[in-house]
Amino acid sequence: MHASERQPPTALLAVETSCDETSVAVVQSGRVASNVVSSQVRLHAEYGGVVPELAAREHLRQLLPIAREALARSGMRAVNLDAIAATQGPGLPSALMVGLKAAQAFAFALRRPFIGIHHHEAHLYSPWVAGDPPVSHFEEFQPNVSLIVSGGHTMLVHVQAKLQHRVLGSTVDDAAGECFDKIGKLMGMPYPAGPQIDRLAEEGNPHAFTFPRPMLNDANDDFSFSGLKTSVRYFLRDHPQLLAEAKVVRDLCASVQAAIVEVLVAKSIRAARRLGVRCFTASGGVTCNRALRRQLAASCQCEKFNLRLAEPSLCTDNAAMIGILAGLKLALHAAPSALDEDIRPNWALAAARP
Ligand code: KG4
Ligand code: ZN
Repeated sequence: MHASERQPPTALLAVETSCDETSVAVVQSGRVASNVVSSQVRLHAEYGGVVPELAAREHLRQLLPIAREALARSGMRAVNLDAIAATQGPGLPSALMVGLKAAQAFAFALRRPFIGIHHHEAHLYSPWVAGDPPVSHFEEFQPNVSLIVSGGHTMLVHVQAKLQHRVLGSTVDDAAGECFDKIGKLMGMPYPAGPQIDRLAEEGNPHAFTFPRPMLNDANDDFSFSGLKTSVRYFLRDHPQLLAEAKVVRDLCASVQAAIVEVLVAKSIRAARRLGVRCFTASGGVTCNRALRRQLAASCQCEKFNLRLAEPSLCTDNAAMIGILAGLKLALHAAPSALDEDIRPNWALAAARP
């Protein structure tokens, strides 16, 4: 630990409401004491995607009971908290508003410092939320290249040191999770289709159909997934009868997944190799995908990179990663945020304060 660092505050309560997960966590001395997550996936399923107004109403309904549960599970009392944190952006404006304003009000009432957190920056630290070595050993994995891949984002980030990072590239259109979900919808699956495609693909042939690997050989770290989705759309328009055969559906899922995973893995490894890092990390909902986890593991083994993947239950949005990052920031003397700061729905990672 650097001489100028002090120990993180003993206890910190963190709130995450940027999209369709309501989550509150308590982090004590850099370790997660509780992390309660309530997913709204079923609520939005019939609409084929997240409906912002419904998301905000559900966050409002859920936040207080979840905060009480997080405190109860941690064994902490509110008066013993040292700081409050919440996701400030990016995300759905109405959803962010609920968590941020509730957390600021809580900090005001308790007279504790408040810290607004960048959601993507928190994803960079989610591989350390659980597992071994713990977050205090984060330095062993620096510098690293980190893939953040979910329904809302797909980006590669160079983490040079603790709280120092540079975005290398991101998707120029759809996120990888969005691509899974939209292709699943074309195949008649409910939202979100990623987990179902993953399940069916396990028993399918990834070489049965060939779909494009967009931007695979481009000399940059950006991604594009809308062309793949369009290609599948035309393919299904021309061969609708294929969806009637369960085996073919499994093969289609495996072939689509293979295209997405190949691009994600190849561009990730290429970036890590070019930058000369020895470590690679990944997080975000799509990091639950078993083929992606297997292929990242195989490629990192070939390259002799240390691989640190977020645990599946912590790949999706959660407040534990918000609390872990807030603890790191406070330990590095980051100034608390003002209690009247607004949400930042389009906050760029490059603009996140150290
Ligand atoms: O991180 P997350 O909960 O929310 C954001 O989008 O920020 O990620 C949800 C996304 C959805 O697109 C979902 O289909 C995808 O992650 N996903 C998966 C898997 N599990 C979740 N995609 C592929 N395979 C999976 N096993
Ligand atoms: Zn996320």
